[in-house]
Amino acid sequence: MFQPNLLGNRVALITGGGTGICRGIALAFARHGCDVAITSRKLEHLEPTRDELRALGVRVVARAADVRDPAAVNDAVAAVVSELGRLDILINGAAGNFICLAENLSPNGFGTVVDIDLKGTFNASRAALPHLKARGGSVINISATLPYLGTMGQAHASAAKAGVDSLTRTLAVEWGPYGIRVNGIAPGPIEGTEGVRRLTNEKSREVALRLCPLRRLGTVDDIANASLYLASDAASYVNGVTLVVDGGLWLRSARILGEE
Ligand code: COA
Repeated sequence: MFQPNLLGNRVALITGGGTGICRGIALAFARHGCDVAITSRKLEHLEPTRDELRALGVRVVARAADVRDPAAVNDAVAAVVSELGRLDILINGAAGNFICLAENLSPNGFGTVVDIDLKGTFNASRAALPHLKARGGSVINISATLPYLGTMGQAHASAAKAGVDSLTRTLAVEWGPYGIRVNGIAPGPIEGTEGVRRLTNEKSREVALRLCPLRRLGTVDDIANASLYLASDAASYVNGVTLVVDGGLWLRSARILGEE
């Protein structure tokens, strides 16, 4: 689908890169010649993916860092640049979520998801900025279609991801002059991921399959391919967009999560 070595001689940092969608992005980038750094709260969540990436022949850094902790994120970015020599691409993928109606959600529950998804995206972007500025680069914020309509049980994540989309547009404008493109990807339900395990049940998956114009859930490769496009020179004039990769599902309804 893509020419080989699309990201040769580049270095990418992928938060949340040990599992799920972000593991898929890390592997796809490595297959295209990109050296890859992955972070997660726990090192043990990174080790199997680190080994898979190394087996692909690229240089790899795996670091424990909670995106809620600006100092830890700064340290991780410094380690990436020290070990891999540069930083060209940042994927803000670390996220947290659960289903809970707003009337049952504690302030700390709401704040925890905003801290991870929204403030974590800011923290990592801010830490990466001086290095991205050196040669220009690309930031991709993993978002969601949740805020496009009212999605039950998702007040916390919808608010956080709406904030992420706003940050995408603002940073695209502020950092474009540095040669840094800032874009987002809003995936639909992606099969085999923790998100689908946590946020859907058999009934809501069946509804999603029925409603989705393409009649299937997404795959990790669907998101990895969108990331390859946005991170590569193929998207060199694309800045400030959030690319929806959901088979058209949200256009039919984003109200399936949390509904019985
Ligand atoms: N329903 C309602 N509230 C919940 C909840 C749930 N299922 N899970 C956690 N919370 C609340 C907690 O009760 C707590 O609030 P409180 O102090 O008022 O009781 C607050 O959220 C923080 O929970 P805690 O478990 O201390 O936070 P954490 O930092 O350890 O975990 C989470 C972060 C909450 C996002 C957790 O779900 C998590 O670690 N998830 C793993 C990653 C993930 O979610 N991936 C999915 C991607 S779609």
